[in-house]
Amino acid sequence: MAKTSIKRIGILTGGGDCPGLNAVIRAVVKTAILDYGVQVMGILNGFEGLIDDKMRPLGMKDVSGILPLGGTILGTSNTANPFRHPVRNNGEIEFKDVSDQAIQVFHEESLDALVLIGGDGTQNIGFKLSEKGVPVVGVPKTIDNDLQGTEVTFGYDTAVRTACEAIDKLHTTAESHHRIMVVEVMGRYAGWIALGAGVSGGGDVILIPEIPYSIDAVAEKIMERKRRGKNFSIVVVAEGAKNDKGELVVQKTIEESTDPIRLGGISHVIGSKLEEITGQETRVTVLGHLQRGGSPTPFDRNLATMFGWKAVQLVVEEKFNQMAAYQGGIVTSVPIQTAIENLKTVPPDNELLLAARSTGVSFGELEKK
Ligand code: F6P
Repeated sequence: MAKTSIKRIGILTGGGDCPGLNAVIRAVVKTAILDYGVQVMGILNGFEGLIDDKMRPLGMKDVSGILPLGGTILGTSNTANPFRHPVRNNGEIEFKDVSDQAIQVFHEESLDALVLIGGDGTQNIGFKLSEKGVPVVGVPKTIDNDLQGTEVTFGYDTAVRTACEAIDKLHTTAESHHRIMVVEVMGRYAGWIALGAGVSGGGDVILIPEIPYSIDAVAEKIMERKRRGKNFSIVVVAEGAKNDKGELVVQKTIEESTDPIRLGGISHVIGSKLEEITGQETRVTVLGHLQRGGSPTPFDRNLATMFGWKAVQLVVEEKFNQMAAYQGGIVTSVPIQTAIENLKTVPPDNELLLAARSTGVSFGELEKK
């Protein structure tokens, strides 16, 4: 067993749940125990458990059988944030900085390091904690695939598979009833899920936040298909897609959340406009949280396992304020700061995007003259 001065590490899952979280937890616990004899404490419900000192030891038995399980055995929260802790006062929400309390819990529990599994919100908090002297290692999680520094996050592949399967199923109704089927997928301000699922599902139109769309251009694509005898069309729309006036559709705002804006509903706006312009019967499906549920794909299980293994190595080598990352087929690490500077969006020269365009997919742009 390799020698290390690290004795006990804490692990938490923050933000929205995501397929593969349990696979990371399992890999961290097994690597820590088997390779280094290090104890792991599971912190419950994201940062809530660090603020309120709610944690439990995780042994080999606790992680047995969880590799294919969706969700997180530790629970999670997208409102718990030590630097912006929501407290209700006479119906009003006040935010308090309770980071010193969380750091005190870290020391009282005799933790030597924290492994934080989460998206940009969680990594942001991790960065701030490390600035206050907490040894932190990040693991990039999100179905949205929008974290910089890593080519892919775990959860993305599973979300794309779920959305692709849904589009395959919607094809049958589209064809049988000669309808336009509008499918809304998640992804926040990045179009990765829409692009990945739209291309693999054979979408005719794919609308992503990175390319402002014109509803007339989308309608024209559908009518052009009709003129060619294609009596149905599939429109895949990212929840964060913007029209040519820069407008997006916000479903609601959750003040306590680390990321208060909830997108959603754009497919209904697009669906009714397309029905009006084209005169073709249109139906709308919002895939929502189905994309975050269920068992992770083999790719995500393997990526999550490598990330968990890498996170423990970073901890025992005392390479803190780093996030596990996947680049060019290799698992490596980047400073957490790199991951949170900007969102990773779909670049205009993305090869899947270019291939989609060359194979007749419309991104709703007006024809370039
Ligand atoms: O970041 C993951 C994600 O599923 C986004 O794609 C989506 O916009 C958001 O979380 C939904 O959040 P909630 O679970 O709070 O509704």
